[in-house]
Amino acid sequence: MGTIKFFKESVKNLKTVGTITRSSKYLCQGMIKPVDFDKAKVIVELGAGDGVVTQHILSKMRSDAILLAFELNSKFCDNMREIKDDRLVVIEDDALKVESYLEHHGHKEADYIISALPFTIFPEELSYKIIRKCKQILNPAGLFVQIHYSLIPKKLYMNVFGNVKLNFVAFNVPPAWVMVCRKEVKQ
Ligand SMILES: C[S@@+](CC[C@H](N)C(=O)[O-])C[C@H]1O[C@@H](n2cnc3c(N)ncnc32)[C@H](O)[C@@H]1O
Repeated sequence: MGTIKFFKESVKNLKTVGTITRSSKYLCQGMIKPVDFDKAKVIVELGAGDGVVTQHILSKMRSDAILLAFELNSKFCDNMREIKDDRLVVIEDDALKVESYLEHHGHKEADYIISALPFTIFPEELSYKIIRKCKQILNPAGLFVQIHYSLIPKKLYMNVFGNVKLNFVAFNVPPAWVMVCRKEVKQ
């Protein structure tokens, strides 16, 4: 999907999309930087949009890995379905249902969860519900990666994971933070 089409679709659905621009190449690279692709077998993407980050993930993924990409917007999902890659499963449903889809595809845990869900426009209770669910289904060595355009939501992750590492990406409109949380912190 082109930038203009993404812009138009986002403006129409601003209350669920939460932005009018998709992530830049630099932000996509920043989001996948913490992933150890040699080890990652099960990757979950939440709020995949038209697949801009998805394609970066697929370009680095092992041939035997699986990517479950959740997205509510049907036009964005149609766009993702044009990506012909057997490792990609496009799930046109709510990220809240991540656990049941993971099980349906034969997995109990995800090695990495990469999310662009617009938690800042969600009711706080719903954000906590999804973030807690993500922690629950993460492999003990797993990472949760989230983008935000400000540091205000950092507290959500501190409260659930107890740790957040920050990386700033200036080359994005607007500039963004990549927040990375470990499920288990080594003492
Ligand atoms: C900020 S956009 C990110 C799009 C793309 N990943 C990117 O980085 O450019 C957030 C996306 O999350 C989707 N979304 C919002 N709530 C969702 C939910 N509960 N479950 C799945 N996707 C959701 C929106 O439709 C939107 O496409």
